[in-house]
Amino acid sequence: MIASKLTSLLIILQLLSIFKTLPLNTTLFQETTISSFQTFEFLAIGDWGSGSADQKMVASAMKFFSDRNNNSNPQFVVGLGDNFYESGVTDVDDSKFKTVWTDVYNGSLMQLPWYLVNGNHDWRGNTDAQIKYTSISNNWNLPDYFYDLEVYVGNGLTAAFIFIETNLIFGGIKYEGEPSMRKLGWGEADYAQTQLNWIEDRLRKHYTKDYIILVGHHPVNICLNGMGNATTINKLVDLQRKYRISAYINGHTHNLAYSVIQNIAYVITGSGGKADPEKLRCMEGDFSKGGFGFVRGLIDQTGLHFEYRNENNTLLYTSAPVKKRAHLVPLHLLDKIYHIIDDFNSKKNINFFGSNRHREFIYLFVLGTTLILSPFLFFVGVFSIRFVVKKCFKKML
Ligand SMILES: *[C@@H]1O[C@H](CO)[C@@H](O)[C@H](O)[C@H]1NC(C)=O
Ligand SMILES: *[C@@H]1O[C@H](CO)[C@@H](O)[C@H](O)[C@H]1NC(C)=O
Ligand SMILES: *[C@@H]1O[C@H](CO)[C@@H](O)[C@H](O)[C@H]1NC(C)=O
Ligand SMILES: *[C@@H]1O[C@H](CO)[C@@H](O)[C@H](O)[C@H]1NC(C)=O
Ligand SMILES: *[C@@H]1O[C@H](CO)[C@@H](O)[C@H](O)[C@H]1NC(C)=O
Repeated sequence: MIASKLTSLLIILQLLSIFKTLPLNTTLFQETTISSFQTFEFLAIGDWGSGSADQKMVASAMKFFSDRNNNSNPQFVVGLGDNFYESGVTDVDDSKFKTVWTDVYNGSLMQLPWYLVNGNHDWRGNTDAQIKYTSISNNWNLPDYFYDLEVYVGNGLTAAFIFIETNLIFGGIKYEGEPSMRKLGWGEADYAQTQLNWIEDRLRKHYTKDYIILVGHHPVNICLNGMGNATTINKLVDLQRKYRISAYINGHTHNLAYSVIQNIAYVITGSGGKADPEKLRCMEGDFSKGGFGFVRGLIDQTGLHFEYRNENNTLLYTSAPVKKRAHLVPLHLLDKIYHIIDDFNSKKNINFFGSNRHREFIYLFVLGTTLILSPFLFFVGVFSIRFVVKKCFKKML
C-alpha cells in the first residue's frame, strides 16, 4: 500500500528534445513524507547571472524554501535565461559557472535540479557550452534549446513543462549571437514555423495533463513594449489558447508581473540578479513591481498559483489559483473545429475568429450543434421507444 503510494508519488522525469534525449532519473523527486494532499512546489528566477550583491540576496531568500522552512519542499528551480551577464559563457570551463551559479546558490539550492533556458545575453556567448554543461553538472539541465519535462506532481495529478528558446523563434536580434543562430537555421524562411510546429506537437502530446506550463525567456502578451516579431508571437499565443495551457513563465523584462488573459496565467519573474527602476516597470496586468525577486509556483488542492517575493523574502503578491485543465474538447474535435474556421476564413479571406478561437467559442460551437440536433435526437428516441414497445406488445399478445 505504502509502496504503491510511494510509487505514485515518484515523480518521473522525462526529457525530450528535438535533437537529444537525456537519460531518465526517476529518483530525483522522490517524496519522503506522505500527507493527505502533497503540495507540489518549484522556484523560478530570471535574469539572475549578474554576480551582484542583490543576486545573492535573492538567492538567500530562495534558500529559505529549499532549506524546507515553513513546510516548504521545492522540487526544482526554473531558470529563465540571462544566466550569465554580460555575454554568457565562453566554454564549459568558464569560471562563471562557479562564481555566478554554484557559489551563489550554494547549499540546499544546489541540491535541487535546475531547468533552464538561454536568455539574449547568453547568446552573446557560447550557448552550446551551456547545453554541454548539462552532461558535466549533476543538476544543471539545459539539454537542448527546446525540451520538455513530464512531472507527476503527486495526488494523481500530472504536469508538463515545455521549455522553449524564444531567442530563436521571435526574440533574436542581430548583434546577439547571430552567427551561431544562423548555424541552427535562424533567419531562414520557415525556421520559426518549424519551431512552432515542434511546440504544437508537444502541446498535443501533453494535452491530457492536468497542468501545462510553457517556459521561455521573452515575454508574450504582457510587458511586450513592441519587443520581438509580432506575427510569430501571435502564432505562439494562438497555440497557447488552442491547447489551453495553464501558464507561460518568462523573464527578460527586469521586473515581476502577473496577468491572467483568457484563462492563461502570464508570469514574469525577470529580476533574480538585475532589476529595472520602479518607474520603468510595465504597468499592465493584475500585479507588477520593479525591484529584485523570485516566484514560487505551487500546486495545491485549489490549483496552480504563484507567490511573488522580493530579495528580503517579503511576500509581494499571491495569485488566484489557476484550476487544473478540465472539460477538454477531444483533440480530433478540436482539429475539426479549427479546420472549419480556417476554411471559412480562407474562403472569405478574413480572419474572423483571429486569435480568439479559444474554449468559449468551442463550447458555444459544441452546445449550438447539440441544440440544433436535439429535436432530431428527441424524435429518434421517441420513435425507437415506440417501436420497441410495439414489438413487445405484439409478442405478448
Ligand atoms: C539521480 O538523482 C539522484 C538524486 O539527485 C542522484 O543521487 C543520482 O546519482 C542520480 N542518478 C543518475 C543515474 O544520474
Ligand atoms: C514562515 O511562517 C511564519 C509563521 O507562519 C511567518 O510568520 C513567516 O512570515 C513565514 N516566512 C516566510 C518567509 O514567509
Ligand atoms: C554560501 O556562501 C555564503 C557566502 O557567499 C557563505 O556565507 C555560506 O556559508 C555558504 N554556505 C554554504 C552551505 O556553503
Ligand atoms: C516575422 O516572422 C515571420 C515568420 O513567422 C516572417 O515572415 C516575417 O518576415 C518576420 N518579420 C520581421 C519584421 O522580421
Ligand atoms: C531589503 O532589506 C535591505 C536591508 O535591510 C534594505 O536596505 C532594502 O531596502 C530592502 N529591500 C526592499 C525591497 O524592501
